[in-house]
Amino acid sequence: MIEPAGTTGLITVVKALVVQTLGLTVTFTLAWISPVLFHGTWRLALIQGTSAALLSTVLRQPYWWVPIHFLFLPMAMIMLTLHLPSWLYLIIVLLLALVFWGTVKGDVPLFLSSSAVAGAVTALVELEHANAFADLGAGVGSVAVPLAQHRAIRVDAWERAPLPWLITASRCRKLPNASVKRTSLWDCNLAGYDVVFAFLSPAVMLKLGEKVVREMRPGSLFISSSFPIPGWQSESIVTIADKRCTKLFCYRV
Ligand SMILES: C[S@@+](CC[C@H](N)C(=O)[O-])C[C@H]1O[C@@H](n2cnc3c(N)ncnc32)[C@H](O)[C@@H]1O
Repeated sequence: MIEPAGTTGLITVVKALVVQTLGLTVTFTLAWISPVLFHGTWRLALIQGTSAALLSTVLRQPYWWVPIHFLFLPMAMIMLTLHLPSWLYLIIVLLLALVFWGTVKGDVPLFLSSSAVAGAVTALVELEHANAFADLGAGVGSVAVPLAQHRAIRVDAWERAPLPWLITASRCRKLPNASVKRTSLWDCNLAGYDVVFAFLSPAVMLKLGEKVVREMRPGSLFISSSFPIPGWQSESIVTIADKRCTKLFCYRV
């Protein structure tokens, strides 16, 4: 059963709070049982981090929560020693919220494609003699903007997080062939595009595959950066010579 995004987000936040609280409870219990062994603020912070990281695995949170839980309290203590003004924390939280807008609700976070990926996608678009290109989750426009600059084709991008959207929109302001929409990629219709590009996450690939089959025209090309669609046979896989050795999975619809 697929839960609504809001419910998933709430469950994620509640799980994170439960894990941190249980980590604290374990730490205080150990310190109470053996005050000599578990003495000292830093030692306690590390025990709390370790307990929280283990509990996060037990509660089956995604693996990236493990380092977050491990480092949360020790990092908070290090930051306190710096005596930074409190408004700075508020600004950092606001900036993170503007960049990672939907991540808590289950959206894919921001990772940027390299310029080599943008170059390879442009070459594929040229090979296809495409007239219309869609970028699902455009980030700061790492692929959409160079493509729109390079070729006079229609480039439509979707980006939901406010700050990346603003950056892409400002990069596109002098490109009449490019547009960026601040709506969810799940609400767009892919019927009018010759090539569609996405760099998202393994978690959404099945759902995205269903959308591609439902909406894209037969003969059009879907390119997924880094993540294949489970069970699908790609027409080709392009390996890029960048730091991540990114793979572009190309599917003919
Ligand atoms: C891994 S980044 C890729 C960014 C860009 N395409 C690139 O290749 O550099 C994924 C982007 O998708 C955006 N995103 C995630 N879910 C989205 C949704 N439902 N609607 C629109 N954008 C979304 C995120 O905000 C993030 O910027």
